[in-house]
Amino acid sequence: MKSARVSARVRALKPSETLALGARARELRAQGHSVISFAAGEPDFDTPEDVREAGVQAIRAGHTRYTAVGGVPELRAAIAEKLKRENGLEYTPSQVVVSNGAKHAIWNAFLTLLEPGDEVLCPVPYWVTFPELVRLVGGEPVFVHPKQGSMKIGPAELTRAISPRSKVLVLNSPNNPSGAVYSPEELAALGEVVRRHGLYVLSDEIYEQLVFGNARHVSMASLHPELYDRTIVIGGVSKTWAMTGWRIGFAAAPADLAEGMERLQGQSTSNPASVSQFAALRAFTGPRDSVRTMRDCFARRRDTITGRLSRMPGIRLVAPDGAFYAFPDLSERIRSARNGVTDSVGLSDFLIDEARIVCVPGSAFGMEGHLRLSYAIGDRDIEDGLNRLEAALDRM
Ligand SMILES: Cc1ncc(COP(=O)(O)O)c(C=O)c1O
Repeated sequence: MKSARVSARVRALKPSETLALGARARELRAQGHSVISFAAGEPDFDTPEDVREAGVQAIRAGHTRYTAVGGVPELRAAIAEKLKRENGLEYTPSQVVVSNGAKHAIWNAFLTLLEPGDEVLCPVPYWVTFPELVRLVGGEPVFVHPKQGSMKIGPAELTRAISPRSKVLVLNSPNNPSGAVYSPEELAALGEVVRRHGLYVLSDEIYEQLVFGNARHVSMASLHPELYDRTIVIGGVSKTWAMTGWRIGFAAAPADLAEGMERLQGQSTSNPASVSQFAALRAFTGPRDSVRTMRDCFARRRDTITGRLSRMPGIRLVAPDGAFYAFPDLSERIRSARNGVTDSVGLSDFLIDEARIVCVPGSAFGMEGHLRLSYAIGDRDIEDGLNRLEAALDRM
């Protein structure tokens, strides 16, 4: 973006690579091509019927006006209850601020925590939005790289990245894009460093319900009272209940930080959509059958995609334990390419042009040589897309 009428701050924002790829896929489909997109960042399921019905009922009941800025009391209480029951975290309803999606909650959290020049430690690979939001509020992202071949940082990597200006560590487990899930022991080790250096933690737990096999989601805030006092927990309904369009997320935090986020929200967006709040209330309090069905489906697809990718020569994959993404390393294939492909962007372009499959390049997440494949797409598309990938790589 070059227009000088647009502020320097906004000009500096990176356009979303995933949205651009989505547009490219739509364009090719419109031209009649059969395109398989592994770029999805949202479940391919519908919002459960009872949750949709709760939204309809909310409209009928006239819940169509402004609500309290941080959400209706019933929803804040239901989220506090969920955090206690499932995560072992004690919050009063007023410590829970409901926002327009988890992304908005993260924005509120950064604005509430950061002074200009503060450094935010972002483990690599990271969700694209973290560094952009940090920069937008005047902070500086500092990227923390894991050991070669790992998708998780340890205390040594974290300690090395800390400077006197470090303020916040971003944790995102289960992780987008790698699917990595930190174990309680790994979190405790990072928590020690956080406590020793007086850092804060932004813990994005939006994929918490999507964990597979022996992996278990644990919240950093539940490990120690001091960590509770230094952590903002982010969650929401978008991924678990396939509710991306309803725009409901939340932040749970120590009272002073929650009050700050609510004050900020009061002068910026006000409450999230009233109707969506009642649908989310049903999600948090209703039966979980449909959530389990979706999770089982993701678990099956994860096995399919990890099995196939790990058998492809020249591809290394750290098997994902959560979320709905696989993040294979194709550096070896890129190095041996004879068609001019030299990086993950080139590879992604080649796969769109040659095989009509859309994968997000690893460079978007700070990790070159990788591709992100979402398996929030139909089973048949996964099989067909992987066949295309295998054949295209052989032609590269
Ligand atoms: C790690 C992570 N956090 C937050 C979000 C945003 O969630 P929401 O749609 O509730 O804003 C996403 C969506 O892709 C995500 O991957």
